[in-house]
Order: sequence, then C-alpha cells, then structure tokens
Amino acid sequence: MDLQLNDPSLLQTGLFINGQWLDREITLDVTDPATGKVITSVATASAEDTEQAITAASVAFDSWKMVTAKERAAPLQRWFKLIMENHDDLAKILTAEQGKILAEAKGEIAYGANYIEWFAEEAKRIYGDTIPQPSNDRRLLCIKQPIGVVACITPWNFPNAMLTRKIAPAVAAGCTVVCKTASETPLSALALAELAKRAGIPDGVINMVVGKASIIGPTLTASPTVRKLSFTGSTEVGKILLKECAGTVKKVSMELGGNAPFIIFDDADLDATIDGLLASKYRNSGQTCVCTNRVFVQKSIEKEFSAKLVEAVESRLSIGNGFAEGVTNGPLINKGAVSTVVDLVERSVAQGACILTGGSVSELGENYYQPTILGNVTNDMPIAQEEIFGPVAPLITFETEEEVIDMANDTNVGLAAYFYSRDIGRVWRVSEQLEYGIVGINEGIISNEMAPFGGVKESGMGREGSKYGLDDYLEMKYICMGGLDS
Ligand code: SIN
Repeated sequence: MDLQLNDPSLLQTGLFINGQWLDREITLDVTDPATGKVITSVATASAEDTEQAITAASVAFDSWKMVTAKERAAPLQRWFKLIMENHDDLAKILTAEQGKILAEAKGEIAYGANYIEWFAEEAKRIYGDTIPQPSNDRRLLCIKQPIGVVACITPWNFPNAMLTRKIAPAVAAGCTVVCKTASETPLSALALAELAKRAGIPDGVINMVVGKASIIGPTLTASPTVRKLSFTGSTEVGKILLKECAGTVKKVSMELGGNAPFIIFDDADLDATIDGLLASKYRNSGQTCVCTNRVFVQKSIEKEFSAKLVEAVESRLSIGNGFAEGVTNGPLINKGAVSTVVDLVERSVAQGACILTGGSVSELGENYYQPTILGNVTNDMPIAQEEIFGPVAPLITFETEEEVIDMANDTNVGLAAYFYSRDIGRVWRVSEQLEYGIVGINEGIISNEMAPFGGVKESGMGREGSKYGLDDYLEMKYICMGGLDS
C-alpha cells in the first residue's frame, strides 16, 4: 500500500534497540482496518530481543541520569519540532493503520507532541524539599531521582499519543524506556522512534519492540532491571500485569478501562450538549477510554433531547474510509471489536432496549458499525455495564440528581464523567460526588497535556500529563545530614 509520504523513511519496520533498526525473520502484517489491505510487515521481538532492549536501556540509564535537566530537554524539544515538521506523514501512517479519520489523526499527532514539549519544560522544575529539623545537629532534605528503566505498554486506539505521554515524562525525568506497542498499530510508534533518533536522543534511551504480548510482557514484568511499568489498556490485562509486577515489586501506573456517564440535566443548553456528546461519544468511532459509555438524560427533557440527538447523528455523522473527504467516523479496529459491539447491542435489545438509529454492521464492510443510539436502556443492561468501545450511545432516563449520581457511580471503574448543567450549585455538588478521576462540565473533550489524566477504582492508578505526570517516574530520597554542631 503506497501512503505517498513526503518522507518514506518514516515507515520503519524493524525493532528499535540501542539506536539500531534490527530486522527479524518472524514478522507480522499491519493491515488497514478500512480496507483490510496489508500496509507492510514488521519484525517481531523474541524474549532475547526484549532482554537486549532492557540491557540497552539499563546501560543508557547510567549516563542519561547524570545529564542535567536542561540538557535532557534539548533533544526532547528537537523531537517535538521534528514531529510537528512531519505532522502530515505521521497522520497518514496513523490513519492507515488505526482507521481514525485524517483530521483526528492530525489532532492526535499534535496532542502527542504536546506531551513532549510539556515534559521537556517540566523536567527543569523537578524540585526537592528541605524539612525543619527535629534537633539542631541535623538537616533534613528530600531529593527526587529517576526511577530507572521503565517498560511502557501502549494500546492501538492512540498509537502516537499514549506512547509520548509515557516516554516524554520518563525520559525528561532521566529514565530510559523499553516500549511494547500494540501489534495492530506499530508503525506510528516506529516512526516516532526514527524521529527520536534524528533528534539526537542518545542510543538506548528509547527502545521499541513489537510482537507477541505473551512473550514480551512477561519478559518485561519479570525483569528486576525494569523498575517501573506504565500501561494503558484494558482493566483485564492491567490486573494480569499488576500480578506479574508483584514478583519484583515494581512501581506501576495503569490507565485502564472506563464506563463514562454523560449526564444531561433539564437546565442544560441542549445544543451545546449535543455538540459535546457527539465529540465525547463518537470520536475515534467510540474507541477511547474516556468516551461516553452511558447517556443519562433527565426525564422531563427526554423526548426533546433524544429527537435532537437522532437528528444530529443522522445528519452530521458519516462513516467511511478515514482518508475520504467528508467522513467523520472510520472503521473499528477489527472484526472482533465489531462483534463485541454487535453482541452488546443484541443482548441489551433482548432485555428491552430499542434502536433509535443505526444498530447494525454497515454495508461498507465487516469493520464498520453504524453510529447508533439506543433508547429504553436501564443501568443494569450489558450496554451500560460493560465498556462499549464503539459508536453506540445508550440513553437512560432519571428523575433526580441523587438518583443519577447513584447510577453514575454504580460501576467498578471511574475514569471520566461528563455532565451538562447551568446551575452553579449543582455544578459543584455533582463534580464532587462523581467517583471519577476526570470530570468534564459542559465540555465533551477534556484531555490535554497540562491536565492530569487518570482514573479511580478499577480504572487504574497514577496520573499522566500535567505537573503531576513526572511523579510516576521519580523516586523520592530522604537525606538526613547529622553530626552538625549547632
Ligand atoms: C484513551 O483512550 O486512553 C486516551 C484518550 C485521551 O487521551 O483522550
């Protein structure tokens, strides 16, 4: 498949270990979910390759940790600039392997690059502390040091930004990384590695391996050299990795699944709500951890709201190949993802939900699912209890604020929540009572590099981005200086 890149050398297909591109006999095909066509094949890593990457990262750590924050920031800033200079090519690679529309792919490249620029700046603000001494012959202080070699495991839904959101704080803090990127979407990651090399990030500081999770995952988690794991993916896999990391007591951060409520109170601005919901529910065809999963609408405005929503979905959304003009929603990542959505819709309809629009696989092909709205949904139906990861909005009605907060919190996860209201008292009450790591008020898109991203309950631990995002890659050391005569 010819992507017509300005710079075809961004389409790398090897393992990236210690600054070298390595070919391997065993490869995996990367396919375009929009057409099913093979884009190219990439080398896969064995356990030995993964060990080699860990060793490279460990050797590089010895010198990288000694480099000053200002000096570490310089190649990160160059990496940021190179990504922005190659914005169009990177977006094309992303759309080809992931399926999201080109405009969203461009948005993700800029979003991902912003984490690099942000952490290059933040690295210079890794402050310690002095502590008032309990007796005058001592002085107490805290310093922060990089934790060491970090393993980063990233998903296919944001193949660029989820990686930069981990690599940038790690490398800015003085750590080195071994990244395992999703097998469905390795090309965006490998292109980032090529640009990191050109930016002058020293060999071994960033390493990338692609291949079987069952080989690479346990090698990373069992290694005593790897001191931290940062994972974005499903809660199910997160729990397995947590157990595996227990053997070597690694520091762990996890950004896992969500079940985001989107609550519309009867005092909301309905047109703004529709815009926010379309963005929050249908971007990336519903394949983000922070995508709306359940839409709660106050009973008194249900009819008006659902009519407006059906009208908006039918007139404003158009599915197709992410490269095509006018398309707003690309395919899902693969047939398995479509089957999960089909199964959730079927089981919920069998329990009484009704289809207001959409509701089936598109005639465009087996990877396409129609933008869908379900009515008559209750909070105990499968579509409300499980993460959909597809373009389906289930509508659930409620009468009171108390009732909707109970329903919104009645889930084992807590990543993002959204609500629309113009009542200032309610805005504070509801924000404080929602058991979620992120709350969007009158806003459907909440992610940016300056804000802390992460969840509570089984949505994970740790925060990415923001001034807090460096903490996960640092150890605090307390130094007690004694024997001082006062
Ligand atoms: C995710 O789906 O995990 C990331 C979404 C975002 O960064 O907004």
